[in-house]
Amino acid sequence: MADESQSLVEFRNVSLQYGNVWALKQVSFRLNAGETRIIFGAAGSGKTTLLKAVIGLVDVDEGEIRLFGENVTERKEQDLFGLRGRAGFLFQEGGLFDSLTIGENVEYPLANRQLGVEPQSSKLGDSPETDFEARVRQVLRFVELEQTYSQFPSEVSGGMRRRVGIARATVTEPPLVLYDSPTAGLDPITANLIMALLAKERETHNTASLIVTHRYQDGELMANFRFNLEKGELDPISENDGEFAGRTKFMVMKEGEVVFVGSREELEASDDAYVKRFVRHEEHHAG
Ligand SMILES: Nc1ncnc2c1ncn2[C@@H]1O[C@H](COP(=O)(O)OP(=O)(O)OP(=O)(O)O)[C@@H](O)[C@H]1O
Ligand SMILES: [Mg+2]
Repeated sequence: MADESQSLVEFRNVSLQYGNVWALKQVSFRLNAGETRIIFGAAGSGKTTLLKAVIGLVDVDEGEIRLFGENVTERKEQDLFGLRGRAGFLFQEGGLFDSLTIGENVEYPLANRQLGVEPQSSKLGDSPETDFEARVRQVLRFVELEQTYSQFPSEVSGGMRRRVGIARATVTEPPLVLYDSPTAGLDPITANLIMALLAKERETHNTASLIVTHRYQDGELMANFRFNLEKGELDPISENDGEFAGRTKFMVMKEGEVVFVGSREELEASDDAYVKRFVRHEEHHAG
């Protein structure tokens, strides 16, 4: 089963309860290498819980989760550390450490990975920070924020903090990044800039991602455009564009359940009143 080995994330009938609330109900899906999955759903529908479950930050009550082919649900906390380090995570609330500089924030996953992989290593004495600085500066340059290296998160704007979060989530070049609401609370121009960065990251490293968002145009951008690395801008994807077409799918959550999975065309054709809420409908009047 070549297909199976390709799956980066697999949920099999996953359910999770907080008190009386089912935050996830019988959730099943797969995400393969290089794929993008846009996740829509009302507030409280389980989107953040789903992302946290992928890397074992919450314990599920039923079902099975596989991450990079390994069973997350059976693992003990200490064994999850290394597995978790192979995925990037942009937290909904940002999750930057206020007391660390932006450079130190972005460096954190690199240092963490080193600790996780070689806990007893004598290399740790060799001042690894100097090795990390070049990489941290490179990834900050990617999000056009190298100049903020020594600043603190409180000294930059909300949109810049989100870009720092993206730099931190991708600094280890993970094959999978989980983005929780990357554009929430940002003006449309900054939001589009952030989404272009996500596409650029995808096209640079063939990164797979789960992207939670409330903005339909975020999904449209990932489904319909690719970042042209030579030109440094977004190009529309044509339907015959084998390498890129069909790589982005949509998922809609409602009260912990996945009520829709499909392509952008299928999403737009849905008759379900709840699903339709997440689709931006064209204005039909002339002019
Ligand atoms: N730590 C927790 N303790 C108790 N209930 C929780 C906890 N975290 C989430 N919930 C509940 O689980 C459900 C799903 O929450 P979740 O945060 O996954 O929603 P969401 O889709 O991410 O919402 P939003 O769009 O507002 O971010 C909600 O009913 C929420 O109140
Ligand atoms: Mg959430």
